[in-house]
Amino acid sequence: MTHEFMEAASEEVFVEQSTAVLRKHIARAIASRGACILGLSGGSTPRPIYEALGKEKGIDWARVWIFLVDERSVPPDHPESNQRLVRETLLKNAPIPKENLVFPDTTLPIEECIQKYARALRNLWKDYLPDVVTLGMGDDGHTASLFPPLSDDALSDRFLVLHTITDRFAIRDRITLALNPIAAAGTQIFFLKGNEKKKVWEEMLASAEDERRWPAKRILQSGRAIVATLW
Ligand code: 6PG
Repeated sequence: MTHEFMEAASEEVFVEQSTAVLRKHIARAIASRGACILGLSGGSTPRPIYEALGKEKGIDWARVWIFLVDERSVPPDHPESNQRLVRETLLKNAPIPKENLVFPDTTLPIEECIQKYARALRNLWKDYLPDVVTLGMGDDGHTASLFPPLSDDALSDRFLVLHTITDRFAIRDRITLALNPIAAAGTQIFFLKGNEKKKVWEEMLASAEDERRWPAKRILQSGRAIVATLW
């Protein structure tokens, strides 16, 4: 499981390094094929990174397409909404055309929302898979909204987008990419901050259990993951 590993000694360096790595991979996609499809996860760790990224003047933002790796089943203006997170941070400054934003429509009933989102992603990815996705990891080892143990559907190619349910968080119903499309992205960047993340990450690396317990393992197996840490 080869991956690039980055260790920051302070919050400031962590945000700087993380923003720089995103900038580099976005620019690389734009230089090689004229566009970048960027998938974003939610959570608290990426907030300052998305905010700093949005202020990057050197990116041709009109060539960047955004989608969500996962979303909570809440209205788009809800404090727990990942769409809201992205709008309040990255999109506050980055002039990305609204036609380039592909978000799940959480005002629809969840199954309808998922079908519509899967169709929109298939359309977005018709020529290219995502260039870059951002990821986190929960203290229980979940990544995106793929909560262990993963279902057969989450591990298979049957669905691009799934409905998952968790009892560990206030917002139980989630909309998430399945594991394979995440692992297929050109670059996957994990943002991990704090001691609990260090513990769980090391537990995963030492564990003999597979991706049903540790979905990040399949992503690391792609050989294209970058792990940015502050711990
Ligand atoms: C989400 C996520 C989720 C997140 C981890 C880590 O929307 O909640 O995509 O997988 O990345 O739970 O979250 P923190 O950064 O808040 O620790």
